Amino acid sequence: MSLKLILLTTILLFFTLFYLSESVDFKYPAVFNFGDSNSDTGGLVAGTGAILNPPNGEKYFHKPSGRFCDGRLIVDFLMDAMDLPFLNAYLDSIGAPSFRKGCNFAAAGSTIVLNPLSVSPFPLGIQIAQFLRFKERSLDLLAKGKKLSKYIPRKEYFRQGFYMFDIGQNDLALGFRSKSEDQVLASIPSILLEFETGIKKLYDQGARRFWIHNTGPVGCLPQSITFFGKDPSKIDGLGCVISLNNAAKLFNLQLHALCSKLQGQLSGANVTYTDMFRIKLNLISNYSRYGFKQPRLTCCGYGGPPLNFNNEIRCGRTGSSNGTSVTAKGCDDSTEYIIWDGIHYTEAANRHISSQILTGKYSDPPFADKMPFLKQLRS
Ligand SMILES: *[C@@H]1O[C@H](CO)[C@@H](O)[C@H](O)[C@H]1NC(C)=O
Ligand SMILES: *[C@@H]1O[C@H](CO)[C@@H](O)[C@H](O)[C@H]1NC(C)=O
Ligand SMILES: *[C@@H]1O[C@H](CO)[C@@H](O)[C@H](O)[C@H]1NC(C)=O
Repeated sequence: MSLKLILLTTILLFFTLFYLSESVDFKYPAVFNFGDSNSDTGGLVAGTGAILNPPNGEKYFHKPSGRFCDGRLIVDFLMDAMDLPFLNAYLDSIGAPSFRKGCNFAAAGSTIVLNPLSVSPFPLGIQIAQFLRFKERSLDLLAKGKKLSKYIPRKEYFRQGFYMFDIGQNDLALGFRSKSEDQVLASIPSILLEFETGIKKLYDQGARRFWIHNTGPVGCLPQSITFFGKDPSKIDGLGCVISLNNAAKLFNLQLHALCSKLQGQLSGANVTYTDMFRIKLNLISNYSRYGFKQPRLTCCGYGGPPLNFNNEIRCGRTGSSNGTSVTAKGCDDSTEYIIWDGIHYTEAANRHISSQILTGKYSDPPFADKMPFLKQLRS
């Protein structure tokens, strides 16, 4: 019995060491990220001069950091888990930012297909055009000498890099402001065609490792509930807007199919699809099990329960309500909340979501025994 146990322990130890040693070698030298506010580390603010007030950023950066969050985003936790520094925004030129380990093209509000209702002039096609210019300029500068090489990726990083995507949520949410549910559902194939075009452009430029987040339960965000959930028949048992979540589910189904198709078509490439919808919905429905107290209430907002959200008076902003000037302030303890500002998640929620991603269980193909970054998340 005890001999068996020793044998078992030895085998376990062997495998642990085996995977650890593999993980030391197995690293992405750089990350290129595309998306919306879910992964914007300062793009919209740099690119449009949009203003983010405190208490955004208070939890980790101790000042607004260009992120629509009290602290770190999922992309920050993933970078950390891969032992890479946080990504600088492509458009953030001041302060000699280093792009050696990658670059972030994401901008809050961005859509896949250009949408006049979006606050971002940087839909996916523009983000990819920016990447192409980034790559060309990088290679140009590298050819000119070593002086700038510590700020820009090496040539081979473009092929070896990890290409991440989290975009589509705004195509759906904005779609509902000008279209019927049927029209939104019918627009999904053309949205995904644009996505496919973008992926193929990157593939043609040498990208081989694609990492794609599907879209979350956008109907559960207080902003969606405020806009589309006045009529109780439009709300499900969790308090989420049924039509928006249905659109997200259909989008995800088609996105998943596209990822499988691309995996088959793009030879030598790996495409990983990750089910953010399932992770986020699980968090919202089972929040207390994961240590949260408020699944729906906005931490930084105005208006009080049940949502504490007023679209005119967003987090950190001052506005007028009934003729009095009021400010949307943060809650006392954002670690008890899932929702930060009515549209985005708190750092605490992002940490939980990242830890779920890193289990590998929500990805297709699943990666529990393949990926290096199944380390514990740093606090
Ligand atoms: C794709 O995945 C396979 C199997 O895990 C691996 O052998 C290959 O090196 C990967 N290719 C890239 C470009 O990451
Ligand atoms: C909540 O947790 C239960 C029990 O683990 C699980 O069956 C259910 O699927 C979870 N809810 C969601 C939406 O994932
Ligand atoms: C504005 O005033 C009206 C009438 O006094 C009151 O019913 C309402 O709750 C107030 N709204 C807010 C947001 O304070």
